[in-house]
Amino acid sequence: MQNSLVFPESGKLRIMVVSDPQDLKYVRPTMCEMLGKAYDDYKPDLVLFNGDNILGNHLLDARFGSRKVAEGKEATFDAMKKALEKILEPVNRRKIPFAMVYGNHDDMNDLTKEEQIEIYRGYEYCMQMNAHDKSVDCDTFVITLSSESGNLLWAVYMLDSAWQDDKGCHTAIKPETVSWFKKTDEDLKAGNGGAPLPAVALMHIPLPAVNSLLTPCDKDDAGAIRCDDGIYKKLNSSIASGVMLEPPSIVETDNGLFDAMKQDTGVKAVVFGHDHSNCFEGNVDGIRILQTGAASFRCYGNINTKGVRIIDLDESGSFTTRFLTYYDIMGNSVLNKIKYFWDADEYAYKKYISLGVAALSAVSFASYKAVKRIIKKHR
Ligand SMILES: [Fe+2]
Repeated sequence: MQNSLVFPESGKLRIMVVSDPQDLKYVRPTMCEMLGKAYDDYKPDLVLFNGDNILGNHLLDARFGSRKVAEGKEATFDAMKKALEKILEPVNRRKIPFAMVYGNHDDMNDLTKEEQIEIYRGYEYCMQMNAHDKSVDCDTFVITLSSESGNLLWAVYMLDSAWQDDKGCHTAIKPETVSWFKKTDEDLKAGNGGAPLPAVALMHIPLPAVNSLLTPCDKDDAGAIRCDDGIYKKLNSSIASGVMLEPPSIVETDNGLFDAMKQDTGVKAVVFGHDHSNCFEGNVDGIRILQTGAASFRCYGNINTKGVRIIDLDESGSFTTRFLTYYDIMGNSVLNKIKYFWDADEYAYKKYISLGVAALSAVSFASYKAVKRIIKKHR
């Protein structure tokens, strides 16, 4: 389907951002249940996958552990298709248009981004994404949102922020991506009578601008995190709010992208993923930064940052946003707590200890009963 949507009659359009749902072909069922319930209860008009859509470098691993059980391009394609089926089919089945950008994990395997994107495009409700412009990556493109009469109302920029070459994985906004953004912004402005078109931009890896939301602090302060420069920092509460549980892992360079966004464009918000345990928002130079926690149960994370982000766009050009955690979506019943404990990787250690203690108790109890029976027999 095309890269454009018409605003609903209500004048409001709901985007759901699913960031880092990364998993193997054995996708953790609790994440699938959480996402399915989020689609049903919150009824997004558009679902955007914000990178690390699969665990691309572990696709050929065994169900348990990291032992490789297959190799080669064909096996990778097969495992990738199965992994993506669990993520994309529930959205497609509900007839919700969707699109994606890649993260650093997606192409750490034998398949190129161009080869992978064809799996996505095999779904009826997947947007076309970038099919023709060879000057930028296939996951760099724009989605336009219009009124029924065809007037442009909003744009959603999807921007590649990571790629793999023979020297390894790189995290940077390429200069050509920045040039593409500037030109596309100009084109959209021209189509909007010369006025900047309100826009949201999504990319997987945070831009350096995210550091402007932090302030140095004492290591004993609430929310203090030791950052990569060795200094303890926390969210600056006068401009930011939310949860920061790990130091921001930013792109090596944004090649001037954030500065370009500040230059008379309509960009009102930028959405990042990548840092699974960070989920916060704040203003930097008039642009809202929306750091979004991971959906994946397979990788590290935190109960307060696992979920999805809602962005409600209004045709007037304003927007609201909130992050829905696992408990917001599923409810915090005992059963849902047990499901979380069982499926989420951050509890793997405690889970194995619990299973070990339970097994030991069962063996001890059985031994006790057996000894008791023997003693009784010989009396
Ligand atoms: Fe990730």
